[in-house]
Amino acid sequence: MIDTSFLPQVNWLESSTADWEALALAHGTPFFFFDADVVAGRIRAVRQAMHGMAQIYYAVKANPNLGLLRAVQPVADGVDISSGGELLQAQLAGYDPAMMSFAGPAKTETELEAAIRAGVGCISAESLREIEQCATIAARVGVPARILLRVNPASPNRAYGLKMGGKPVQFGIDEETLPEAETCVLANEGNLEFRGIHSYVGSQCFDPAAVVEATANALRLAQDMERRSGLVCKKINLGGGFGVAHTEQRRELDLSALARGLLPLFVERKTESPDCDLIFELGRYITAEAGLYVTRAVRTKTSRGKHFVICDGGLNHHLAAAGTFGAALRGNFPAYNLTRPDSTLVTCHIAGPSCNPTDLLGVDASLPAPEEGDLVGVGMSGSYGLTASPLLFLGRPTPVELVRSSGQVLVGRRSHTTTDFN
Ligand SMILES: Cc1ncc(COP(=O)(O)O)c(C=O)c1O
Repeated sequence: MIDTSFLPQVNWLESSTADWEALALAHGTPFFFFDADVVAGRIRAVRQAMHGMAQIYYAVKANPNLGLLRAVQPVADGVDISSGGELLQAQLAGYDPAMMSFAGPAKTETELEAAIRAGVGCISAESLREIEQCATIAARVGVPARILLRVNPASPNRAYGLKMGGKPVQFGIDEETLPEAETCVLANEGNLEFRGIHSYVGSQCFDPAAVVEATANALRLAQDMERRSGLVCKKINLGGGFGVAHTEQRRELDLSALARGLLPLFVERKTESPDCDLIFELGRYITAEAGLYVTRAVRTKTSRGKHFVICDGGLNHHLAAAGTFGAALRGNFPAYNLTRPDSTLVTCHIAGPSCNPTDLLGVDASLPAPEEGDLVGVGMSGSYGLTASPLLFLGRPTPVELVRSSGQVLVGRRSHTTTDFN
């Protein structure tokens, strides 16, 4: 029996109204608030569910806040990065480049050189051309490139909300052409340190059986490659995409069921190759729950019978909550009245400040009636928030990002005004 009841969740209303108001007065509104202990707890929970047989990398793209990255660093086994900027951010936060995985279909020459020079442990080569480019750069700078082959599997993965493999995509090397890629690696062996394979097939998967199937497939691909080419996979990056609903339903991938399916596969691989690292790179599953976006109601009004609460922040800071970042279907993120949590429930549209009618953080949302001046919180906001939003749209300042770690609240990113970007 695997106990995963320790997967942390938060109750934002446990903090008092006075605490939220004090933060708002000190830092202005809107602001993002992240609980680093929740992120750390969720990383530990996943690792524990896998009986320590899988390493858990933090996908920086989900939340690249420096304070959060720093606070979580002692707990994460490594990071997944997707650009030169994320490489620098992860280095600033204290992560060892040897424990970084760098994926992305358009890595530039400059980014690859920076990663090779830094000693990034897993550079995912996503084409034959990229394997050769890594070898050429490595020869020029005199540092071997540590590469994995990112594979685009032949089999489709229907259960992933956002599919990044199993079909024609810009990511990875098609499974059918892997033998050519292996030949290319072997021809450039002097400049490459071959590490293994990487398979990230998609995001937002709620079906444990589908993750198990994708994992079994990745392990089979690694084994086939080893038998065919003699190359040895010391690292297998199994991707991630563990599902977590941002909406009020609080649905998430069942970690116990997942572990039950994965553990026999891991035991088999570890028995054959005890030195092989198995890696999951997780973004929203470990961060979404840990974030709250706090905005202030500036105006309330009724338009043709519909009640609106209009706030000082919206899609400009939090595109995903307005349903416009990678969501197939719009759903309300959980909304809280942080100032008056006990007032009578009201059904309303929670609007942001922009000129766009889709700037709605809640559509017919039900929450304790906000009055002008109240703080309105949007939960499940720890991933793909600020940095996945059109920050400069309409020229409002960007929100401060606050990070709570071991009871202390720090500024993880300051506010920027439009003129900072000139
Ligand atoms: C290569 C890679 N790793 C990790 C992630 C993080 O995915 P998620 O937030 O669904 O866990 C992504 C998301 O796009 C990705 O492309």
